[in-house]
Parts: sequence; structure tokens; C-alpha cells
Amino acid sequence: MKNQTLESYSAGQAVLQIQQTESWDFEFADTQCNTHGMHNYPARMVPQIAERLIKKYSQPGQLIYDPMCGSGTALVEAMLCGRRAIGTDLNPLAILLSKVKTTPIESNYLKNRVSDFLEKLNSRFNQLDGVNKRKSLSKPDFTNIDFWFKPQVIVELAIIRELIFNVGDKTVQEFLLVPFSATVRKVSNTRPGEFKLYRYSPTLLEKHNPNVLKIFKEELRNSMVCLMDFNRATGLKCDCNAYKVDARYTENIIPNGSVDLIVTSPPYGDSRTTVAYGQFSRLSLQWLGLDYDEIRSYDEITRLDKASLGGSIRKNYVHSLKSKSLDSVLKTIAAKDAQRAEEVAWFFVDLNDVYKQMHRVLRKGGIAGIVIGNRTVKETLIPSSTITSELCGELGFEPIEKIDRNIPYKTIPLLNSPTNETGVIGRTMNKEDIVVLRKY
Ligand SMILES: C[S@@+](CC[C@H](N)C(=O)[O-])C[C@H]1O[C@@H](n2cnc3c(N)ncnc32)[C@H](O)[C@@H]1O
Repeated sequence: MKNQTLESYSAGQAVLQIQQTESWDFEFADTQCNTHGMHNYPARMVPQIAERLIKKYSQPGQLIYDPMCGSGTALVEAMLCGRRAIGTDLNPLAILLSKVKTTPIESNYLKNRVSDFLEKLNSRFNQLDGVNKRKSLSKPDFTNIDFWFKPQVIVELAIIRELIFNVGDKTVQEFLLVPFSATVRKVSNTRPGEFKLYRYSPTLLEKHNPNVLKIFKEELRNSMVCLMDFNRATGLKCDCNAYKVDARYTENIIPNGSVDLIVTSPPYGDSRTTVAYGQFSRLSLQWLGLDYDEIRSYDEITRLDKASLGGSIRKNYVHSLKSKSLDSVLKTIAAKDAQRAEEVAWFFVDLNDVYKQMHRVLRKGGIAGIVIGNRTVKETLIPSSTITSELCGELGFEPIEKIDRNIPYKTIPLLNSPTNETGVIGRTMNKEDIVVLRKY
């Protein structure tokens, strides 16, 4: 928003007058540049927001942390700005993407390894003519594989997967898993353009005969171009670690006061009623399977959405969070649906635990930039950014800036049903806020 009028903004007791003079909409920005263009992920942060926050609130060499790093947008920007970075997320696919997108591989070396790999791949596909060749393949053993993939697709994915896990260099192996994951989603029986898993209708399913090898090669080419751009932009100098950890429990990973700047975008609400990151990632993760180090069991994959913030419902809970705005909104929702009010309360209880950890890991004077959208439940607007300011005010943060921005092309469903009923369209969520706070 340009030249916006004065606005008052409170966190805890402090009230701040902010004049927002520059646009944070980034309407025409290239959000697929460098490794950002590698793999789809729901509700990605706009890279230019992360870049601006990093340049404004940190110095080269300082440590940036994203507690819910998703596909690693803030981490990539930290590398491009010459900072160090740490990311955490409980989704193993998020960790794979974050690692690969922030790990340069010298371009000639990468080209040679990929060309060796493609030679083997082409030769395996050329032999693919008889039933006998298929028998020896090990396909992952997850429920419903035959529901989500056609038999020929399973054979072809299994060949690619086997060859990837035979690649000796772990960094190259993980790099190849990214186009593989993108391919899994494209060749599955799921309707394209949806984050949740919906199967094609019987008529469309009959016509669905994807060319697995061609799609994988296209994805691989795209990933190579992205990584080479990133190599050039960073001069191969990167210092970034991504850990599969619940952001509410980071004591064993990140020391007190060690982080200079946090840049993060939390989920909008629990995965069941907002964005289902686990469901989006499920087929890819099931295909990566137990050979991928970050996955311990197939059960872990199917429980991801329940493990996310607000995912587990605790009945008859009375929360002790100090936020007037949250109290007021919960009262309104409870008058319509007591259970939905409890679900919303639980989400904020969990989110508050993340905010506590953010406060712990930041150094005194360190800054947190939180990109957060408001959502509607039972036709009641939940002012998540104001609630965030109030909760963080109680934890020892003071307000620095509050920026509101339009979302030109965010990859989330813009229309949502307030009642969760099919066909009922709710308010459009096309704005979000950036709350900037300082630890005192
Ligand atoms: C809005 S997305 C982040 C997107 C990211 N900024 C990007 O650009 O890709 C929110 C992320 O929070 C993660 N998440 C949810 N609950 C979590 C928890 N308890 N601990 C860590 N991450 C969590 C989800 O897996 C998801 O990746």
C-alpha cells in the first residue's frame, strides 16, 4: 500500500503510530527466480518480502531463522543476501526443499553427475518392454498406491526412484529427489491445481496417461537451471541448515539468544480447515519412503496435518493466553459453534508456543518479521496479526512496524467457505500483514 495514512498499532501496552510509505505488494515481482522456481509449495512467502526484511533488519554474516520454513523462501533469500540461516519445519518435504534450494552444487560437477544419471535412466527405460523387467523393481509399500497411480506409472516412477537412491553423492541424490517429487504429483491420479488430494473423475482418469520420463526430465531441467542461477548469485558460498523439528520444541537445536533476525510466515490456522500441508506433501513423501533419511515411518507422513499447529483438539479447554482480540473473537465464534471456537483457541495456544521459542532464540534487540494473514471462521474475521502483536507483547517483544499488503497472486484458495459447506463461498482473503517486533 502506498502513502498510507497513519495507523495505530498496539503490542502489549505499547502503541505505535506507523506511516507506511512503500509498497509491499510486489505485484510484478518475479517470485520464481533462482531456486524459488524449483518446486511448488502451498502459501509460499513472496521472496521480495523476505529480502526486504533481511536487508532492512540484519547485516551480512548474521544469523536468520525461519521456524516454519516451508519450502525455504526466507532461507534462500538469506543466502542471496550473504547471511547465515537456520530453518525448522515438521514436514520432511519442506526440509528436503529447504536443503536443496540452499545448497549450491558446482555447475560442471552437477552437469556431469546428472548426465551419468540420465544415461542410466535412458538405458533402463529402453529395456522396459517385458513383464520380467518389472518384476525385479521394488515399489514403495504404502496404502492406496494403486488408487493414486496407474500401474505403468508405478513401474516408471519406481525405476527413477531406484536409480536416484543409487546415486553415491548424497547432495546430488537429494537434488534429484526434488524433480522426482514434483513428477510424482504431476503423474498421479490427482486433479491438477489442488493442494488437497482429489482423484480425477472416472472419465478424466481414463484419458490420463502421463509420460513419466518426459515430465521428470522437464522437472529436472528446470531444477538445474534454478540451481545454476543460485550458484552464480551466491558464488557457491552458503551456510544454511534445515531441521525437521516442531517449532514449539527447538531447545536442542538452537541456543538461547543466538539468532539476529527471524523471518517467518505461520500457517493461517489448523491444517484441517485451512491449508493442508501434509496432504499436499503426502504422495511425494510416500514415494520418497523410508530410504529418505528424514522419514521414520509411513505413519508419520499421514499424521503430519494432525501434528501441525492446532492439529490436535483438546476438549473443554480453557486457554490462558492474554489477548483481548482473541478473547473477543472466540466469544463471537462460540456463540455460533463452541467446538470451532475451541479449535481456533488451540491453534493460537500452539502458535504462542512458537512465539515463546522465537523470543528465546533471538538475541536482545533482535527482530522478528512475521507475515500473517487474517482468516474467517463462522463468518467472523480473526485478526491474527493483532492477536500476534498482543501475544508477543506479553512475551517481551515491542512493536516496530506493522505493514499491510495486498496479495496479488498467493497460492492459497482465495475463496473459502466460512461454514465449511460445499458450495458456500466466504469472504475473500486477499490481504495480509507483516508484523515487525523487537525483543527487549
Ligand atoms: C505458510 S507455510 C510456510 C511457507 C514458507 N514461508 C515458504 O515460503 O514456503 C507454514 C509452514 O508451517 C509448518 N508448520 C506447521 N506447524 C508447524 C510446527 N508445529 N512446527 C514447525 N513447522 C510447522 C507447515 O509445515 C508449513 O510448512
